[in-house]
Amino acid sequence: MTDLAGKVAVITGAGSGLGRAAARVFAGYGATVFCSDISGAEQDTAAAIGEAARAFHCDVTQEAQVEAVIRAACDEFGGLDAVLNVAGVPHFGSLGELEMVDYDRILDIDLRGVVHGTKHAARVMSAAGGGVILNWSSVAALGGKRGTAVYSAAKAGVIAITKAAAVEYARFGVRANAIVPGMFMTEAAERAPKALIDEVIAGVPAGRGGDPDECAELAAFLASDKAKFINGAALVIDGGQSAQLA
Ligand SMILES: NC(=O)c1ccc[n+]([C@@H]2O[C@H](COP(=O)([O-])OP(=O)(O)OC[C@H]3O[C@@H](n4cnc5c(N)ncnc54)[C@H](O)[C@@H]3O)[C@@H](O)[C@H]2O)c1
Repeated sequence: MTDLAGKVAVITGAGSGLGRAAARVFAGYGATVFCSDISGAEQDTAAAIGEAARAFHCDVTQEAQVEAVIRAACDEFGGLDAVLNVAGVPHFGSLGELEMVDYDRILDIDLRGVVHGTKHAARVMSAAGGGVILNWSSVAALGGKRGTAVYSAAKAGVIAITKAAAVEYARFGVRANAIVPGMFMTEAAERAPKALIDEVIAGVPAGRGGDPDECAELAAFLASDKAKFINGAALVIDGGQSAQLA
């Protein structure tokens, strides 16, 4: 069984979807979770978990706010074992019609936000002797699909910075891995056009979208000591979606 007893984790985007599921599953395995989000819903996630959770407002595009939540976890518990950079937003739109203001917004949240979390986690963890960084990418990073250019670029950047961080910080006992989800049935999926979701699911060999807890279980394993030789990996969890030929 996965064991996270005594570990402390900071989770961005914990007010919804995959981040909220990770917070719940990590706490279930014995971790204390610092739930952060820009939406305010981090309060609900933490309240539902109870004593093992704290809530922190944090906009991942603001470096000082990301640093603050990481510092708060260290200050309260004298250390930090895992940082999960989950916060992200989807983007669909033709490249030819792209407004660069949208490019800036998506790259700010989906890539720069992960850079902030990875940077400050690596700093704190390398000084303390180790830790685990998990960054949420997407199968959109692995190939193109109509309308995903900017999102794909941001999520490919997430894999790249994760691998580079893994190599740079391994000597300090820090591991960094990317989680590469396919379609998961979260609030983000509910907001997308139903026809688009149906089309994506039709291309999933498993015949369904993922349950957020399935992604959270992968994250919990990666954060556990059982995964201590897994570093610099981009782990796909997609029901076979990215494995099949078009
Ligand atoms: N659901 C999927 O099918 C899927 C597939 C591949 C990758 N992903 C990735 O997984 C992550 C979680 O997705 P989800 O489906 O749970 O989405 P979601 O919309 O359910 O949750 C995302 C959370 O991120 C928060 N957020 C947005 N901007 C933020 C900011 N600037 N600072 C802090 N928090 C912010 C939102 O408030 C929200 O609570 C994202 O990075 C997403 O790109 C999701």
